[in-house]
Amino acid sequence: DFQYPHTFVLLGASGDLAKKKIYPTIWYLFRDNLLPRHTKFVGYARTKQTMAEVKEKCKKYIKVRPGEEDKLEEFWQANEYFAGSYDKRIDYEMLNQLIHKHEKGPVANRIFYLAVPPTLFEDVTVNIRNACVSLKGFTRVIIEKPFGRDDVTSDKLSNHLAGLFKEEQIYRIDHYLGKEMVQNLMTLRFANQIFNPSWNRENIASVLISFKEPFGTEGRGGYFDDFGIIRDVMQNHLLQILSLVAMEKPVTLNPNDIRDEKVKVLRHIQPINLNDILVGQYIGNPDGQGEETSGYLQDPTVPNDSVTATYALAALWINNARWQGVPFILRCGKALNERKAEVRIQYKDVPGDIFDSNAKRNELVIRVQPGEALYLKLMSKSPGMKFDLVETELDLTYSLRYRKADVPDAYERLILDVFTGTQMHFVRNDELKEAWRIFTPILKELEEKHIKPVPYVYGSRGPLEADSKLAEYDFKYSGSY
Ligand code: BG6
Repeated sequence: DFQYPHTFVLLGASGDLAKKKIYPTIWYLFRDNLLPRHTKFVGYARTKQTMAEVKEKCKKYIKVRPGEEDKLEEFWQANEYFAGSYDKRIDYEMLNQLIHKHEKGPVANRIFYLAVPPTLFEDVTVNIRNACVSLKGFTRVIIEKPFGRDDVTSDKLSNHLAGLFKEEQIYRIDHYLGKEMVQNLMTLRFANQIFNPSWNRENIASVLISFKEPFGTEGRGGYFDDFGIIRDVMQNHLLQILSLVAMEKPVTLNPNDIRDEKVKVLRHIQPINLNDILVGQYIGNPDGQGEETSGYLQDPTVPNDSVTATYALAALWINNARWQGVPFILRCGKALNERKAEVRIQYKDVPGDIFDSNAKRNELVIRVQPGEALYLKLMSKSPGMKFDLVETELDLTYSLRYRKADVPDAYERLILDVFTGTQMHFVRNDELKEAWRIFTPILKELEEKHIKPVPYVYGSRGPLEADSKLAEYDFKYSGSY
């Protein structure tokens, strides 16, 4: 299909996501000649602005290496901007005409990226369907979370979309699925005999999947307070990782076979129990030490009695033959001490100990970011005359083994997948439904009971209570998490 004209329409082109993420991403794909040769880009939003103004707004976020100035100019030449409303069909008809102008030949494809607030999803998709679908090629729509805020609202959105497009046309982005190490999970599990036989309840004590960020809601308090960390990160990014860690081997690498297995493992998970969750909210540094930081409630866009969680730790239980009894601990938080996303597969203690309990547990660590790495913690004899044990690592740190350029950005990979029609790394409707089934009851319970999150200090490791919770789940702390 790459020989035919393509149009990439960015709805919400005047917004934050567009300038910070989507324009830079399409520029990198264009620069590296990864897109179809005849690709046009059309920005669409309510704001009246010229292309010169769009360029100016994006400048700060678009990286241009020396010698790439001409290519960048070529990129902007392939761009147009069109101001229109989101709810008037007539504006989309004009957009359609504008796209049509470029579509020479028998085949032409269209991709619509909705970088707009969720309140506009319905209007925008109806209008695309009514006025902008390609009559001589594919039409695909990319949407970003939030896909609803609970099971009911998510179903409503799904039904709405299903009335307009086929599932093959809908690309629900979870950008964690575009990350290198998340994509590596299947290879690691299913292309290595060494892991496969031990990947189960007989050998694994617990699995910890973490997301940590060193900054608070700065500027996004409005959106965030409505959703909270559980909906923002745990129900999507962390649960997606869980399903890749825990699923059975798919029949083939076909995207639907993979997603069938992901759905299947999710179906074995019971909704989260109140005893299995700890929620936290960050406060400012009480004694003014370190950096000046203010607490979540001091964010002017947050109501000052908000009980929205900015930190959460939850244990999920998979009731199947492979995993029964093994806690999958999901943990995420903002305003913590560092940026880190990783998976820790913690093996059980070695039975029949002959080392006076000096042997620590094996742990397989899959570090998603920063600094992709895969390492296996194991015990070894300390070199020398003595017969001492030492904990060491088999270490595959990507920066030492590969070039940085070998690891593409998640958005680049995912947007390219939409051009090629690869849905493997996108969320299917039934996966989403399962995710909400698992999370909706606990979200409701937290809200209805008005459960107060425990405080933790901005820049700390999180609530102190989290460590005892981890111990409860037989996760042995051994280092820097
Ligand atoms: C987004 C969340 O989905 O992921 C943000 O809405 C979060 O709150 C972001 O900061 C983290 O993404 P990354 O790629 O920087 O880890």
